[in-house]
Order: sequence, then C-alpha cells, then structure tokens
Amino acid sequence: MKLWGGRFTKETDQLVHNFNASISFDQKFFKQDIDGSIAHVTMLAKQGILSDLEKVAIINGLNDIKEEIISGSLVIDGTHEDIHSFVEANLINRIGEPGKKLHTGRSRNDQVALDMKLYTRDELLQIKELLKDLLVVLQKVMKENLDTYMPGFTHLQKAQPITLAHHMGAYFEMFKRDHSRLLDIYDRMNYSPIGSGALAGTTYPLDRAYTARLLGFDGPTLNSMDSVADRDYLIEFLSGLSIIMMHLSRFCEEIIIWNSNEYQFVELDDAYSTGSSIMPQKKNPDIAELVRGKTGRVYGSLISLLTTMKGLPLAYNKDMQEDKELTFDAMDTVKGCLGLFTGMLSTMKFNIPAMENSAKNGFTNATDAADYLVNHGVAFRDAHGIIGQLVLYCIDKGIAIDDMSLEEFKAISPVFEADIYEAVNLKTCVEKRNTIGGPGKAAMAQVIALNEEYLKSIL
Ligand code: ARG
Repeated sequence: MKLWGGRFTKETDQLVHNFNASISFDQKFFKQDIDGSIAHVTMLAKQGILSDLEKVAIINGLNDIKEEIISGSLVIDGTHEDIHSFVEANLINRIGEPGKKLHTGRSRNDQVALDMKLYTRDELLQIKELLKDLLVVLQKVMKENLDTYMPGFTHLQKAQPITLAHHMGAYFEMFKRDHSRLLDIYDRMNYSPIGSGALAGTTYPLDRAYTARLLGFDGPTLNSMDSVADRDYLIEFLSGLSIIMMHLSRFCEEIIIWNSNEYQFVELDDAYSTGSSIMPQKKNPDIAELVRGKTGRVYGSLISLLTTMKGLPLAYNKDMQEDKELTFDAMDTVKGCLGLFTGMLSTMKFNIPAMENSAKNGFTNATDAADYLVNHGVAFRDAHGIIGQLVLYCIDKGIAIDDMSLEEFKAISPVFEADIYEAVNLKTCVEKRNTIGGPGKAAMAQVIALNEEYLKSIL
C-alpha cells in the first residue's frame, strides 16, 4: 500500500519504486517507529483529537505488530516503500477504521526525524557503555603496571623512560573525552521533533511537550522547519564516532608495532590473532589491523553525510534519506571494534623484561644526564652539548650511558661524580617525574585515584 496514491493516475515504475524505497534499511528502527507512534497517539487522545477507544485499539494493534516482528511471526514486507508505510498498512489491515487515524497531525518528515533520533539515542547509550568497559580495562592495566618501565617515543624514536601505566593513561584520557563527548551530543540532540508536521507544524491542538516527555526527551524542538531538516546530531555523532575510531586506530598501530618480532613488547592472545595460510610461524595481529582499517569507513560516513547536507534548502528533501545506511554502518562498525578491542587488550600479555630492556638501551636517560649537569651548575645548552658527545662516545663503543666508568664520564666532563649512576638509573628517571600528569608513581597514583572516582561517576 502507498500512503500517497490518491493524487496519481499511473503506477510507479518498478525501478523508481526500488530506487526510492528505504524499507530494506529503515526497518532497523521498527521498534522506535512503533514507540513513537504510541506516544503520538497517546497525546492525540489526551488532546481529544482521538477517542480513548480509538487510542486503545491503535496502541494494542501497534504493540501486537511490534511483538510479532520481534518473534519473527510477522515478516517485514519489502514491497512497502518504508517502515512507516509498512506499520501503518499492517495496522489498518488488522484493526480497520481507527488505524486510519494514526497519521493524524504528523508527516513522515517529522516521523522519520523522530525515529532516527530515537534509534541514534539508543545506539549512543550502547557505545557509551562499551567505552566504559574499555576504560575499566585500561584502569586495571594501569594499576598493575606502575613500575613497568618502557621507553616513551617521539618520532617513533626512543625518547624518555615512562611506565606502561603512564602509556595506558594517555589512552584513558582519550577515551574519557570520547565518553564525555557522547554525553554532550546526547544533551544537545535530546529534543523531540514529532508534531512538526511536514514543515510548518499542524492545525491540530497538539501537546508536543507531552509527547516529548513520554519519549524521554528534554522538550520539543522549537522550529518546525529545522525539526524536519536537522541532521546536525547525526553529523556530531559521526564525528564523535570518527574520533573514537581515530583513537582506536592509533592504539592498534602501537599494538601492531609492539607485537612485531622486532619489539616483542606484547603477545596477543591466540584467541585474538590469526595465522597465515602459507607461513606456519605467523601469528598476525589481524584484529588490530582491521580496526585500524575500518577507521576509514567511519570517516567516510561522516564526510558523506556532511556532503549530502551541504546544499539542501529548507526544509525536508529526500536526499536526507541517505543519512541512514551510512550512520547504521558507522554505529555497527564502532560497536564491533570497541568490543573486540577491549577483548584484545584484556587478554594481551605484556612482555615486561623486553619493555624495560628497551628503555635501558636507547639513551632514554640522556635528558636526565643533562639535567644532572644542570643541577651541578652547568647551563642547560652546554649540558645538552656535553651529553651529545657522551652519547656519540657510547654509540661508538656500543654501550649504554649507565655502562660507562666514572673515568670515562670524567673525561667528558669533570663535573660528573659517582652519584651520576643513581641519577641516570631508569627508576630514578621515572620517579623524579612526579608533577601531576607525569609518569612518577606518586603522580600516577593521584591520577589513578581520580580515574577511580570518574569511573564511579559514570557507572
Ligand atoms: N524514507 C524517508 C526518509 O528516510 C522518510 C520520509 C519521507 N518523506 C517524504 N516526504 N518523502 O527520509
């Protein structure tokens, strides 16, 4: 059944129907469509626009449709244009006359705006939970690795020593921002468009604030044209999802590097790695690579929707139907990636000796050696030059700074004394960095306590 056949004298061309139809994908929000209709009808009856008998008949019919779709006894018939047409036609078939009143005081334009918002809101809450699960795993790894030394990198070159807890803490901050970004988006999007009609409101005495409240919104949207034409919340959401993927992708890149034969900082659990069809020795980080790869796909959704929206005059245009498949794909992708990533991280083994060994070899304590000279009265620029020479000397001899004899130190600068060994020791280098945000244990303990409070606040 068509919702709009009356004005037409010819059947729609089959190809046109196929091209125009959205039921193959918008059936994803059949529950939200029905919940929205139930709230709308409840409001219509409260306002005296429908009788209570009509309301009850419609709501019972809609609830039956919902249950039957869920149980599988009612199959969504792909010959309808969209999920809205399917539900309405089915309702009329089963309850007769009252069913024809369901669409009083609304248009598919405000209906689809509502359905998509309700669906997005549900997805956003699920993704928020998945982020929380990841934060809980990160916090655990942090707590367990306050003394696990590893090199910190810049330019992928060993720079200064840090701890594994500190490194994980950087990701904790990223995913914490992602979590709060979703909450911001939720607050901004949580206004109900239903009752805006096609674009100019309706002549019925609707109580939009009431419908909004029934559906858990903070209130009705305030401009009916904007209500049916607004997809900002999807663009914000896709942007939030893109940032989550960017963070996951950076993390995956590190895990791939750490898992390589050269680094061996981590070993992926067998359940989270894959083999090669030809090379028997291989244990590949496919999951990390796929998450990194899927980032492009989520960015693509964001760019697609921005581009779709950029030239649209007010108010509704059919172009906006294109918002769905790409947003659904992005939501499903992010949910899949977050779940798998958390599983991979929580089962991954850290090779603590390899990390510490790497931190010891690679002059990560060179800055501390320069700081030692500064603390003994040498200007920092001069100290930098002296340690540069010292590093060159060590490279030449194939040794670490700590391996030099006191005579060798003194030959480079007479300022060095026996306490240089303590000053360039890995533990000292990390433990001296105790201002908030640094890798020192006291600083990290403060952050871990704050994280604990934060995790409690989002439970
Ligand atoms: N399937 C449409 C969409 O997703 C529903 C709204 C149809 N409205 C219209 N005026 N054709 O946007």
